Amino acid sequence: MKKFVFLLLSAVLFLTPFSVSAQNERQVIREGSRESMKIALTFDDGPHPYRTDDVLRLLEQYGIRATFFVIGENVSYYPEPFKRTVAAGHEIGNHTYHHKLLSETCEKTIEEEIRKTDDIIFRTAGYRPKIFRPPEGAYSDCALKAAKSMDYSVILWTVDTRDWEKPPVQVIVDNVMKNVKGGSILLFHDYMHKNAQTLEALEILIPKLLEKGYEFVTVSELIA
Ligand code: NI
Repeated sequence: MKKFVFLLLSAVLFLTPFSVSAQNERQVIREGSRESMKIALTFDDGPHPYRTDDVLRLLEQYGIRATFFVIGENVSYYPEPFKRTVAAGHEIGNHTYHHKLLSETCEKTIEEEIRKTDDIIFRTAGYRPKIFRPPEGAYSDCALKAAKSMDYSVILWTVDTRDWEKPPVQVIVDNVMKNVKGGSILLFHDYMHKNAQTLEALEILIPKLLEKGYEFVTVSELIA
């Protein structure tokens, strides 16, 4: 029996070489208070040469502020839509420089990925982000430690719209309406390949959510 347990433990350790301790796990934020009607729209992987502006226009139409988890490399390619995002008062989060999967490494590269992104965000728009989202929501103790050492809050999400898989508009809408609750952090993407219907879904979702009494805030406001 002991041998079996040992083998099982070895297998688990082998499969997850960079584990996450329970203590560090508590550092990861997936939602705000369920007692309020506040929710946060988040957009990952931008800025994009024109899709980011499409989202900005829609948000402006409703006077809504959202949160954009940007990739450092994309900020270097498309500084203008990024500057417009900051100027419009949206919150900016750090999403690494190369969209690197952090669960598979425990090296100094994690810190470099975060710091390089921090630098280009500041150089481009004079903005210092306070929140960090690991690509694909994948992390390890090392990633959490690195984020903490740079005073970043680690933010995942409550509802994954899976918009990047290009589901029909109604599937995105139904998924959000079925799963949203007070305090929810909703995951969308403003950088994706063509035919994703994020914008079309948002055009339906925003008025629906407002009608239900939800209030749109940035992630930092949601978790304050
Ligand atoms: Ni991403």
